[in-house]
Amino acid sequence: MTTHSISAPGKVILSGEHAVVYGYPALVSAVNMRLTLSLKAKSSKKTTKPILKMPTAEYISAYLKQNYAVNIHSDIPRGSGLGSSAAYAVSLATAYLSLRGKPTKKHINDLAFQLEKSHHGNPSGVDNTACTYGGYLWFRKEHQQIHLMHQLPITKKIQCFLLQSGQPKETTKDMIAYVAEQRKMNPEKYKKIFDKIESITKTWLAYMFDEVSRHTLLEAVRENHRLLSALGVVSPKASALFAEIEKIGGSAKITGAGGKSDGSGMLLIFHDDKEKLTKFAQKKKLKMYPVQLGERG
Ligand code: PMV
Repeated sequence: MTTHSISAPGKVILSGEHAVVYGYPALVSAVNMRLTLSLKAKSSKKTTKPILKMPTAEYISAYLKQNYAVNIHSDIPRGSGLGSSAAYAVSLATAYLSLRGKPTKKHINDLAFQLEKSHHGNPSGVDNTACTYGGYLWFRKEHQQIHLMHQLPITKKIQCFLLQSGQPKETTKDMIAYVAEQRKMNPEKYKKIFDKIESITKTWLAYMFDEVSRHTLLEAVRENHRLLSALGVVSPKASALFAEIEKIGGSAKITGAGGKSDGSGMLLIFHDDKEKLTKFAQKKKLKMYPVQLGERG
């Protein structure tokens, strides 16, 4: 019996998380961690459900399970800002749309965004777009219906690492809602922070096109961390870790929604001395992952 496999990568936001929800740009990259959905057709098909235009994730999952033995394997750590839910949404959307022919990436991405919305409340769409298209992406939500996306024609190898600061107690939905509440109370402050984050995202772009030095980029990453802390999405536990990472010569930021009361998910770290960073992680008993950027969608 044939087995079909569909896989989608996780992602890291290099710059622009949270700001991207309000129409600011984000630079995002697919990573070499993937979720794979395997479908093996059951011998007795029981297709009683109709194929809907805008199904929920639960509907798709139930639909697939009626007709296939479904197996999911993922090496994307969950709830850590690496897009595990988006990779799942993209895989589900691909499987479902493939029942009616060969879907385009745009169709897959549109459905994955609908699935993400039912989980995250008001996501920007950056996660599902990165997991659908892969590579390095410049993304901006102009309007609820208009998401601009540009795939950067770049294969630059950027050495970076992920360090688990602890799974956040809050969900992405909670963190998006928290920032929205705070912003409502102090719009001026939030506008200033988001404007500065935009300028860092543009520094990243300049780095990708070899227009600024690595030193400039690493300073911008540190500044990004401070701005994310000012947004309130970095927990005291993660803040203490950042201070230590900076002390041993690294630059780091959260990647994704963050977390405020316990862990803040994965920290994205840049450090020229891999051994030094590995020793640091071992001493702290924290899981470290070397990660490759710019992976395929
Ligand atoms: O789902 P996460 O943790 O990777 O966060 C997504 C990035 C946010 O900007 C916080 C939300 C969004 O939808 O853009």
